[in-house]
Amino acid sequence: MIGLVPSILSADFTRLGEQVREVEQAGAERIQIDVMDGHFVPNITMGPMVVEAVRRCTQLPLEAHLMITNPQEYIETFARAGADVIIVHYEVCPHLHRVLMQIKAAGKQAGVAINPSTPVFMLEDMLPFLDLALVMTINPGFGGQELIPETLPKITRLREMLQLRGLNCDIEVDGGINEETAPKVVKAGANLLVAGSAVYNNKESVAAAINRLRRAI
Ligand code: DX5
Repeated sequence: MIGLVPSILSADFTRLGEQVREVEQAGAERIQIDVMDGHFVPNITMGPMVVEAVRRCTQLPLEAHLMITNPQEYIETFARAGADVIIVHYEVCPHLHRVLMQIKAAGKQAGVAINPSTPVFMLEDMLPFLDLALVMTINPGFGGQELIPETLPKITRLREMLQLRGLNCDIEVDGGINEETAPKVVKAGANLLVAGSAVYNNKESVAAAINRLRRAI
């Protein structure tokens, strides 16, 4: 089953609760909250307060995508705020195994994200500890970018690495996912698709946008 995971970065924050309920009613599997600190990525967005607010609006599992330096300092905070999955970036975790254990100790699912320039084999030794591996298909920081096609083989390679080890953690992709790129990432091996601007694009209802994406996969 392929999961659609709207990211709220592109939502209308003047009516965030409504936009969260709309994706839940439209059948999204999860919601992703894009946390950015202006250091790891060149943008500052939202923090644990927004996770708490979204938590009050939906029963869907919430992913906290921590695009921040020193994520180990905030695991318990996001866990308490209501995140079900906490995703840290490989590039800022020299002690990644310790951080993954910290997330699990907080009772949450552990995810790691890699930027387009980070090879998937850097995750090889951590695969047994992952609930989710997120292959960024854009350079993180902003919604509305084009998917970088050279990231597609990374998805396939990661799926092969998992199959070789008899592991089946989720492979999630994030960035530039729309009705044109969605079938490509699914074919490559992704099973969770994060979409921001394709869902909250304002040219159509959220339900219509989600249905359009669903039809494309
Ligand atoms: C940007 C965020 C992505 C972004 C995706 O770094 O992490 O989740 O919202 O947005 P789209 O789907 O518009 O590329």
